[in-house]
Amino acid sequence: MSVPMLELAPQNASVKEKILQGLSSIIDRSSFVLGENVKGLEAELAEYSGARYAVGMSSGTDALLVALMALDIKHGDEVILPSFTFFATAGVVSRLGATPVFIDLDPETFNVTGALVEAAITPRTKAIIPVHLFGQLAEMPAIMAVANKHGIPVLEDACQSLGAKGWGLSAGQFGQMTGCSFYPTKNLGAFGDAGMTLIKDDEALAAKVRRLRVHGMEPVYVHHEIGMNGRIDEFQGLVLRAKLPMLEGWHEGRRRHAQWYIERLAAITPDQMVLPLEKVPNGRHIYNQFTIRVKGGRRDALMAHLRGLGIGCAVYYPICLHEQPCFAYLGYKKGRLAESELASQEVLSLPVYPEMTPAMLEEVAQGLLSFFKKG
Ligand SMILES: Cc1ncc(COP(=O)(O)O)c(C=O)c1O
Repeated sequence: MSVPMLELAPQNASVKEKILQGLSSIIDRSSFVLGENVKGLEAELAEYSGARYAVGMSSGTDALLVALMALDIKHGDEVILPSFTFFATAGVVSRLGATPVFIDLDPETFNVTGALVEAAITPRTKAIIPVHLFGQLAEMPAIMAVANKHGIPVLEDACQSLGAKGWGLSAGQFGQMTGCSFYPTKNLGAFGDAGMTLIKDDEALAAKVRRLRVHGMEPVYVHHEIGMNGRIDEFQGLVLRAKLPMLEGWHEGRRRHAQWYIERLAAITPDQMVLPLEKVPNGRHIYNQFTIRVKGGRRDALMAHLRGLGIGCAVYYPICLHEQPCFAYLGYKKGRLAESELASQEVLSLPVYPEMTPAMLEEVAQGLLSFFKKG
């Protein structure tokens, strides 16, 4: 049996009828951008996340970009962020002419920590972007304490982690603002690109984000700032509202599968393979990715073995951002962010989507056990 890394069709089939009906009324109304579905989605996501304001955006990248624009991040400013993340986290910083300051990670969670953030602060630091990678919160209380001590705003990158919890709060309730992605592979996925900027409680900041989304315009044809076109379509609002009531069940399905893997793979020793660790007190990892570390330089051999068996797997991310050609001008030397570099060589993500059957999970487990010769 082959097991794809991700299969969206079964999940989408469960909402297809509802979406087709909604699409029919969108066509009848012929209002396609920032209409009633987007407004409804914004209200529902504010409620879901616990942030006071939510502004629908065209993608997760734009959701992060507009937040940095609202903070007036510009040339000469420094923004602290992990090197081990998706490119967009850093791309939005550079887009505004600011300098990304890459930091290392906690090898147990792949996330940045308060201590790592603090060590990178300079008088030019104007924002901090902790990423909640793979579905688990970064060490937010410590990061917020450092940020508050220095008066620096925090933008959470929750593009993989809407619904992640810890320390009695959810993603979106720590930093001043939060960027979310609804790219189709996310736990809550649109039928194309879409995103959301959450604003924890600052009404003026929310108004500015809303304005920047439409070229800094308010009212029509009066432009206060140089903004962007970051608008989100009604169709994506419709799709996301149809799926949102199922999201908690999908998170729980992923968590169940993750727990099953952790028990089933217990015979593989930590010198061979390291399983994901849930490190956040009273936390909820939502497993957008189930990411293992393969030790002994055998990651690519395991990937080839699994693919040979028809089992999907993927490397997020094979190259750290401080090692990317476009950031060579920053002058990071090899070994400077040693844990990030090691992670990029060891990580392997396995299929964990909620629609997987017990037989599919067993197939993946067998693939791993046979590689490590554990029966
Ligand atoms: C950590 C992280 N940041 C930012 C983004 C950008 O989101 P999008 O692809 O919706 O622009 C992603 C999505 O892939 C992501 O995983």
